[in-house]
Amino acid sequence: MPAVLLPDHHGGTIVMLNPHDYVDIENGSQAKSIFWDSGLYEQELERVFARCWLFLTHESAIPNAGDFFTTFMGQDAVLVVRQDDGSVKAFLNYCQHRGNKVCFADSGNAKAFTCNYHGWSYGGDGRLAAVPLEHEVYLGGFDRTAHALEPLAQVESYRGFVFGCMDPDAPPLAEYLGEMGWYLDSFMVGDGQGAELVGPPMKSILRCNWKIPTENFIGDGYHIPWTHVSSIMALGSEIATIFGDTTQLQKVGMQITTRHGHGFAAAHGAGPLLMPSIPEYKAYFETQRPKVAEMLGPVRAEKFYGAHWDGSIFPNCSFLYGTNTWKVWHPRGPNEIEVWTWSLVEKSMPAELKRQVVDGAIRTFGTAGLLESDDGENMESCTQSNVGWKARRGRMVSNMALSEGRRHPDMPGIVGDGALGELAQRGFYRFWAEVMAARDWDEVRAGTQDWDAPWQRSATGR
Ligand code: FES
Ligand SMILES: [Fe+2]
Repeated sequence: MPAVLLPDHHGGTIVMLNPHDYVDIENGSQAKSIFWDSGLYEQELERVFARCWLFLTHESAIPNAGDFFTTFMGQDAVLVVRQDDGSVKAFLNYCQHRGNKVCFADSGNAKAFTCNYHGWSYGGDGRLAAVPLEHEVYLGGFDRTAHALEPLAQVESYRGFVFGCMDPDAPPLAEYLGEMGWYLDSFMVGDGQGAELVGPPMKSILRCNWKIPTENFIGDGYHIPWTHVSSIMALGSEIATIFGDTTQLQKVGMQITTRHGHGFAAAHGAGPLLMPSIPEYKAYFETQRPKVAEMLGPVRAEKFYGAHWDGSIFPNCSFLYGTNTWKVWHPRGPNEIEVWTWSLVEKSMPAELKRQVVDGAIRTFGTAGLLESDDGENMESCTQSNVGWKARRGRMVSNMALSEGRRHPDMPGIVGDGALGELAQRGFYRFWAEVMAARDWDEVRAGTQDWDAPWQRSATGR
């Protein structure tokens, strides 16, 4: 790929890097510098965060006209607002006068957003409604219509989960989720009522690169018996009973990767695997399963509904189902993220079960959760230890069971045997390299047309 020059923040230029130099999918390795290189990070802000669909909020957090929620896309502050007609719009949370934020609150309901610097006031639809002393100080007249809040190019909801995209040429959200949507429906549709998030999100800072938690959640079951053993014993989680024989995870699970880098690993029938024991939760899954089968058919009802999942939606949204946590890893530079954590519940759960599930999710993966702390230590170390002059020149490996993965007759995407593996991580880095190398969505489409070619072996099913 020829070097491309980009403007930097100081009037100079930076060279676009070729991400394929950093990721070797065929042999399963990544350069350690992908976790600290500031040039790559600049490229990510443009080509990953300003190009891909990013999770914003859940519709249930903004049910009424005027309800708003503030978040980030990459490092751009964003304001999401429920409109009078029930639709959802989102804008850059920046005043068009001098760039102050127009909304500092995390969420709420407002008729207008008034900048606290000079008082420009915007409607929930983004138009500039009022300017202090407009006629007195803007002597030549002032066109308020030219200074509306900048809207996101695209906002869409998938089963109530609201995503935004800054690139007007990106495919529709359902197409971007692609084959991953079929799996997500296992709980996002479920018995027909679907799922929602319980917020407001807990927030914390980790001194790590944003890709480390994404690749961890997308399929790293391998670390569970090592990183989390003490916490799991202390919590009395169900998986504590199989420690010493974690090959069981291998026997009862699978990993999935899809075209746009989304993926997950699932352990069938093992939903509350990491939770402190909640007998009602397991009973709930069994009550619901026939209803899910009716809605979605037997494969999703038996293999994925009530399974334990660890997954990621490219680039920076991750979740666990069974432990019911939903996370966004907001980048704050190459070496730091802000972690936002919601609890994930099914709408049909009885109120008391919802409370127990949220409590279990917070105790495990909330900001002060035991397993969250275990992971955070690894994620920070994997970033900071690669900054050293010598270490940064090395490579990491994700070459576990390289031959793993194939098309399956009953399931979309590429499916690998066993919940322990690195198929989904390789799929994540495959797409990361594609989207980082492409100049626009046309090139992303072309580059990912035959994305599954390496795994095209025919399948007999399992
Ligand atoms: S910066 Fe917002 S009114 Fe001046
Ligand atoms: Fe973990």
